[in-house]
Amino acid sequence: MSEEKSPRLYKNQQTADISEAQIAVHWQEEDYFAPPTRFIAQANLTDASIFERFSLDKFPDYYKEFGDLLDWYKYWEKTLDTSNAPFWRWFVGGELNACHNCVDRHLSKHRNNTAIHFVPEPEHETVQHITYQELFVRVNEFAALLRDSCGLKAGDRVTLHMPMVAELPITMLACARLGVIHSQVFSGFSGKACGDRVSDSESRVLITMDAYYRAGKLLDHKEKADIAVTEAAKDGHKVDKVLIWQRYPGKYSSPAKLVEGRDIIVNDLLKQHRGERVDPAHMPAEAALFLMYTSGTTGRPKGCQHSIGGYLAYVTWTSKYIQDIHPEDVYWCMADIGWITGHSYIVYGPLALGASSVVYEGVPTYPDAGRPWRIAEELGVNIFHTSPTAIRALRRDGPDEPTKYSHHFKHMTTVGEPIEPEVWKWYYNVVGKTEAVIVDTWWQTENGGFLCSTVPAIHQMKPGSAGPAIPGIHPVIYDDEGKELPAGSGRAGNICIRNPWPGIFQTIWKDPDRFVKQYYERYCKNPKSKDWRDWPYLAGDGAVQAADGYYRILGRIDDVINVAGHRLGTKEIESAALLVPEVVEAAVVPVADPIKGKVPDLYVSLKLGLQAAQEITDKISAAVVFEIGAIARPHQIIIVPDMPKTRSGKIMRRVLAAISNHLDPGDVSTLANPEVVDKIRDLVK
Ligand code: PRX
Repeated sequence: MSEEKSPRLYKNQQTADISEAQIAVHWQEEDYFAPPTRFIAQANLTDASIFERFSLDKFPDYYKEFGDLLDWYKYWEKTLDTSNAPFWRWFVGGELNACHNCVDRHLSKHRNNTAIHFVPEPEHETVQHITYQELFVRVNEFAALLRDSCGLKAGDRVTLHMPMVAELPITMLACARLGVIHSQVFSGFSGKACGDRVSDSESRVLITMDAYYRAGKLLDHKEKADIAVTEAAKDGHKVDKVLIWQRYPGKYSSPAKLVEGRDIIVNDLLKQHRGERVDPAHMPAEAALFLMYTSGTTGRPKGCQHSIGGYLAYVTWTSKYIQDIHPEDVYWCMADIGWITGHSYIVYGPLALGASSVVYEGVPTYPDAGRPWRIAEELGVNIFHTSPTAIRALRRDGPDEPTKYSHHFKHMTTVGEPIEPEVWKWYYNVVGKTEAVIVDTWWQTENGGFLCSTVPAIHQMKPGSAGPAIPGIHPVIYDDEGKELPAGSGRAGNICIRNPWPGIFQTIWKDPDRFVKQYYERYCKNPKSKDWRDWPYLAGDGAVQAADGYYRILGRIDDVINVAGHRLGTKEIESAALLVPEVVEAAVVPVADPIKGKVPDLYVSLKLGLQAAQEITDKISAAVVFEIGAIARPHQIIIVPDMPKTRSGKIMRRVLAAISNHLDPGDVSTLANPEVVDKIRDLVK
């Protein structure tokens, strides 16, 4: 076993004894692919001297170029304030409004450009093309409703539990216009998961939709709002109003009853706000734009708080220079707006640049694997952005489908998980028809925008590698002892970023201690220091840097599993299983999966005297779906007679992970109960 494959290297002090990085599948270093000359000829960034301009000795002043892409009511006085390290403050003293930057400022030149193409999942339904002018009108009317009918004001939090419809960006932008902090919860999350986020963010208003399409079915969504309100109430938090958009305006599509005095049909109430205009609030750059909850190392999801000025500057710059978006481009990011990718690269980045952004309601492979290419052909999409999971599924279900359509992409993105070189090549050759440049972008919910990627017109592409750091980002890989691995060593370690950047989240909502502990404590050189150099940011991923400077990401080093590009906490799934009265112990491990990258296997042991039974398995599965959502449903639930344990009673997840991944669990003779390993292996077979 080579050094970089050695599990011991990734072992993380604060976390699990098994991690994604430990079961990472490695591939060879690949040959380079050159960016197409046609792409280079039109690209926004072609001058490689940018890396000189953005060298660490010029930090933080180079980030002025990011801020200068935005309109400011008041220009900032200080680019970066580090006085309360590591709570960085960007563009201090500046005032702006995110909605103005994404909508109003385009009206003079691009009023009639399409801002949002909404593509319903049913193919017979008409695609909606919403111009910037229309977006301006709809955002203003909804902002007036939020302000005058709901009494919302700057700094209030509002939870959104909305599907992929045009009303979602409209709602986000209306909040931003008022300075209201939105917290969008992925629509696939359960009502309970939504309720947890409602109470943590103390949202008095919950905004949802009655129903939406998924894989050909109109799903009832409103029922989840009822559960969310009930669950939040158990935490002692009251929701005053539930605002319900109608999937079909004028028609209520949910069997769930409306609650008198609490539930409001948005499409009815909007009539009272027709033609109203709301002046965008002049917000301080460091005020919060939104919360995005994500999984971490404990059972409770954490609300990542993103700023207005720093975040918007960061996503605008990276959209312009890494996504290469021009105002005339038709850009389609197939992620869900309920995740950070959608916030940054469906809504805020592309709209800040005045481009057209596609919002697709449904499943990429519905009704067949030709759907994305039909949409791209019809709308003239020229920039396409998706995840390895989607690419693998489209390749499996329709390997030749892209050749049947006349779409032409100039640029394609892969994000969220490592992509196998073979899958990358299909994306390049078949989806991109060898005409498109590809960027493999590595980043996280906490980061706001890309950290590592090739600059598309400057660097060669290398399948399976995310590329070097983008301009302004200066990574370092540490070993477990805190020693820096030499640059380009090809050795695995824990990737960190040396410098702050404007897109980095500001804190964990209501939990600043955890923010410091989880992201900065490990490699902090001096906890009293106000010098950013002492506070490397710990990403929580294992990585290697090759001699050419390109990074390959190996996966999480902590208790997080990246399932189909969605981040799940093993502790969250275990906590859900432990709610079932029969269960006494639960352990979740990541398992390599050919389509989804990783999937969770859940091992449980039962109360003394109880036997494994399908009924119990079903109860556990239902508990996970209720607590988190169907995306967290375990791949397998394995009821074991006993967990493999150390003599001190600690569950050896490493052994379980080896069994699930059909790997050698190594020496188990030091376990308290080595005999259980074979019994478990038989169960998994
Ligand atoms: O493990 C890394 C993986 O996804 C994690 C972040 O997940 P999330 O916060 O949900 O954000 C997803 C959208 C950026 C990371 O810690 N990851 C993300 N991008 C890549 C990746 N792994 C390999 N290659 C990537 N390009």
